[in-house]
Amino acid sequence: MSTSAKVFSSSGLASARINIPSEPCVMVIFGASGDLTKRLLIPAIYNLACDNLLSDNFAVLGTATRQMDGAQFREKLSGETDGIKSYHTRPEFDQGVWDSLVERIDFQSGSFDDVEHFKRLKQTVTELDKKYQAGGNILLYFATAPRFFGTICENLSKAGFKDTPGWVRLIVEKPFGTDLASARALNTEIRQYWEEEQIYRVDHYLGKETVQNLLSFRFSNGMFEPLWNNHHIDNIQFNVCESVDVQGRGGYYDSSGVLRDMMQNHMFQMLAYLCMEPPSSFAPDAIRNEKAKLLQSVRVYTEEEVKRNVVRGQYGPAVNDDGDVIKPGYRQEDNVAPDSSTETFAAAKLQIDNWRWEGVPIYLRSGKALWKRGTEIIVEFKRPPQAMFEGTGIDALESNRLVFHIQPDQGIELRFQAKIPGPRLNLQTVDMRFDYGDAFKASRYTGYEVMIYSCTHADSTLFSRGDLVEAAWQVAQPLLDYWQSTPEPNFPNYARGSWGPKAASQLLARDGRRWFEVVTPEVLEKSPLFKGAAPLLLNTVIMALRSTIAEAGDTIITQGEVGSEMYVICHGEVDVLDDQGTIVRTLKDGDCFGEIGLLIAVPRTATIKARTSCDLFVLERTSFSRILRDHPHFAAMVTTIAKDRYDVSLSSHHLSA
Ligand code: BG6
Repeated sequence: MSTSAKVFSSSGLASARINIPSEPCVMVIFGASGDLTKRLLIPAIYNLACDNLLSDNFAVLGTATRQMDGAQFREKLSGETDGIKSYHTRPEFDQGVWDSLVERIDFQSGSFDDVEHFKRLKQTVTELDKKYQAGGNILLYFATAPRFFGTICENLSKAGFKDTPGWVRLIVEKPFGTDLASARALNTEIRQYWEEEQIYRVDHYLGKETVQNLLSFRFSNGMFEPLWNNHHIDNIQFNVCESVDVQGRGGYYDSSGVLRDMMQNHMFQMLAYLCMEPPSSFAPDAIRNEKAKLLQSVRVYTEEEVKRNVVRGQYGPAVNDDGDVIKPGYRQEDNVAPDSSTETFAAAKLQIDNWRWEGVPIYLRSGKALWKRGTEIIVEFKRPPQAMFEGTGIDALESNRLVFHIQPDQGIELRFQAKIPGPRLNLQTVDMRFDYGDAFKASRYTGYEVMIYSCTHADSTLFSRGDLVEAAWQVAQPLLDYWQSTPEPNFPNYARGSWGPKAASQLLARDGRRWFEVVTPEVLEKSPLFKGAAPLLLNTVIMALRSTIAEAGDTIITQGEVGSEMYVICHGEVDVLDDQGTIVRTLKDGDCFGEIGLLIAVPRTATIKARTSCDLFVLERTSFSRILRDHPHFAAMVTTIAKDRYDVSLSSHHLSA
C-alpha cells in the first residue's frame, strides 16, 4: 500500500476532498454485461476520469457468461444509444477522455462456476497489471445476483487471486441477503475467503452527496447538535416516495417488496447517519461503529408491536373515466403473482431505545407508484408552550422543522414562524433554505464514483459492514415474519399516484401527528390556480399548506356551514352536490374547492363529498388572506374563479379582510 493510501485510510470521508486520483488497480467486474455496468459503473469511472480523479494506472476487465470479446464490449459501451453517450451525467460529452478510457477496458466471457475461466481471468489481470503498472492491486466488483457470490469467491480463491503483490478488495452489490439468516450465511460464506477489511458492501444511498452531507451537517455545525435529542425533537420522518412502479422488475420485486428493497438498506443507512452518536473521528470504523450501535438500539418488535406500528400497502390499477384500466395494478405487472401479497408500500413507527432518542418516534415511509418522487427527512422539533399566545388569536403554534431534501430536490430547509407585518399579531410559517445547486457548481454524479474511488483508497466509510447489515436485518425480520404468516386481505389498498394507504396516516394520527408532505412547486402547479405562478407565491403557498386525507364517501364540506379553509386535490375525486344532493360537477387532481369560504364569511354554497379516497392540501384563512394581500394578481385569479364557478362577486374589501 502506498503512503497516500495510508493517509486516505485514516482520513475517511476527508479523502474525497483532496484532489488526488484513485489508487492504481485492475477492476474486474463480474456480471459486466448487465445494466449496472453500462448505466452506472462505466459512467462513474468516466466521471472520475473527467475530473482527473482516475489513476492513469487503472484498467477494467469485465466478465459475464454472455459471449463477447473486448472489442465488442468496448463497442457496446461506446454505442450512441445504449452506451456512455446515453448514460453519462456531464453537461458535455468529452470524446477525448472517453477514448483514452475505453482502450483500457477489456472483456472475457465465462461461467462463474468454471474455475478454468477464473484462471484465465487471473492471467489477463496479470497482463493488464503489467501493461498499466497497476501495482498488483485488484478491485473485484460483484455486480451479479447474490446467489453467485459464494461460487465466485471460491473460484477466485482457487484461481489464486489472493496471490498478488498489491491489495485485493471486493465490492458487493445489494441485496445483501434476503433476511437475517441469509445475510448471516452470506457473511460467513464470503468471510471464508476474504477478511472483513477487504469486503465493501455497497448501498448506493451512501454515494449520494445529500446523504453524506447528513454527517457533515450534524458534526461540522455546532448549532444543532445540542438540540439533537429527545428534549427538543418531537419526531423524525423519513420519506422515500417513488412515482415509478416496478418498471418491469416484477420478477425481482415480487420476492423482495419495499421493506427489503428500500427500508432495510437505504432508509436504515440514512436513519443511522441522522441519529448516531458523534464518532470519535471521521475514520471509517469510528463512523461505522456508531452506525452499528445505533441500529442495534432500534427496538426489535414483537408480533404485537409489528401489528400496531407497521402498515403495508400495494398499489392498484389506474382507471380512466370509463372505468378502463390505463395502467396495471401491481398484481397485473409482468412476472408478479396475480394474488401476490408483496408490499409495494410500507410505513413504520420505530423506537430507538437509547438515552438520546428514548420516546422519540421515528416514522419511515416508502413506496412505489406514489404521487411524486421525493426523498426527504423531516426533523420536527417540539412545539413551544401555547399559553403565552392565549388571547392573541393564534390558537395553534406550528413546530419548527428541519427538512433535508435528499432528492430530486437537494438542499436543507429550516421552517419557522415569523410575524406577519401589520398591527396585529399573526404568524406565518417561513423558511430558510440552502440549495446545493445554487451553492455548488459540481457536475452531477451517479453516486458510484465515490464508491469506486473510496474503495481504491481503502476508505470504507461509505460502505456497510457485516455487523451493520445484520443489525438492520434484525429489525426488519419480525416484520417479514409477520407479513409472511399473515397475508394482507385488503390488497391492493392504495391507488396509483396517491399518498399510499389510509392506514399510514392513521398510524400517525393515533399519536396526534401527521405525515409531513413536502409539496414541490411542480405538484402545486398541476392546479390551474397556481399554474405559472411566481416562485415566491408558490413558495408562500407551500409553506402554508397542510395535508389531509378523505376516504370515499366522506363529507369534506357541508353546505350551509361557514368554512375557513380551501382545498387543493393532490389525488382523488370529489363530487360537488347541490341542495338537492345532486352531483353538479366532479373535481379531480389539481382542482381546488372551498376558496370562497376563505374570502367571505358566508355559508358554504355546496356540499363536497369524496368520490374516491382523496389526498388533499388545505390552506387556512389566516395564511390565505395574507397571500391574497401580498399577491394581487393571484387575488384577481381567485376572484375570477369564484365568479365563474359560484357566481359570487368579490369586492376589494373581501380580499383585504
Ligand atoms: C434501488 C431499488 O436500490 O433503489 C429500486 O432496488 C429503487 O427499487 C431505487 O427504485 C431507488 O434509488 P434512487 O437512487 O432512485 O432513490
